[in-house]
Amino acid sequence: MRNRMIAGNWKMNETYTEGVVLAQGLAKELADGTGDVDVVVCPPAVDLKGVAEVIEQENAPFALGAQNVYWEESGAYTGETAPNMLTNIGATYCIIGHSERRGYFGETDEDINKKAKALMAHDIVPISCCGEPLEVREAGKHVEFVVDQIKKDTEGLEIADPSKYVVAYEPIWAIGTGKTATADDAQEVCGAIRKTLADIFGKETADGIRVLYGGSAKPNNVAGFLEKEDVDGALVGGASLKADSFAAMVKAAM
Ligand code: PGA
Repeated sequence: MRNRMIAGNWKMNETYTEGVVLAQGLAKELADGTGDVDVVVCPPAVDLKGVAEVIEQENAPFALGAQNVYWEESGAYTGETAPNMLTNIGATYCIIGHSERRGYFGETDEDINKKAKALMAHDIVPISCCGEPLEVREAGKHVEFVVDQIKKDTEGLEIADPSKYVVAYEPIWAIGTGKTATADDAQEVCGAIRKTLADIFGKETADGIRVLYGGSAKPNNVAGFLEKEDVDGALVGGASLKADSFAAMVKAAM
């Protein structure tokens, strides 16, 4: 019903030259295909074109995603990237609302909602991130915190094809720290996310939306998350920067 997804978030790593080499390495690792698993690679903006060329030249079995977008079509927005600029170079996915963008760059749920609408208007699939900070988890309020984010981030969205909207649950305390949530922790929140999506969009749509887990996901722990009913894949940071470890995670999902 839902294809699994493994998405790599390179964050601010890999120059253009390094990014091309990493994408070539990944193309080689995945040369036999990825079965029913949808694989997405999200390099920094200046690497996108280079990775797009590798995908084309190697006929690589992964899609290209950006890490950010602005919601306006064009104009005086220095430093920003418009949705049609992404489409034009072959990006079909875009991460939005990552906790690093919320935390360091002040992105709000309202911004994330506008970005989702702009992307979907251009047929780019949002990978919309949510997740709680440590103090919220320790206070036992993580489910309501994330449910609130989901409601705000999806407000007014129209999801005609549920395979074209992806949610990533990334507890902030587990990102880049080596501390993973347990598979049961992930299921608790991913299940609540799907229930919230069902309340908003109906069960059929919610059943078709991929909900990923992210936060220190690695080759040696990804299988445990994937066993859970409402965890459909992983958004991978650190472990996506080595072709062999990222490919191992794809293979674990196959
Ligand atoms: P990590 O990052 O796998 O390095 O923890 C995940 C993410 O922030 O998307």
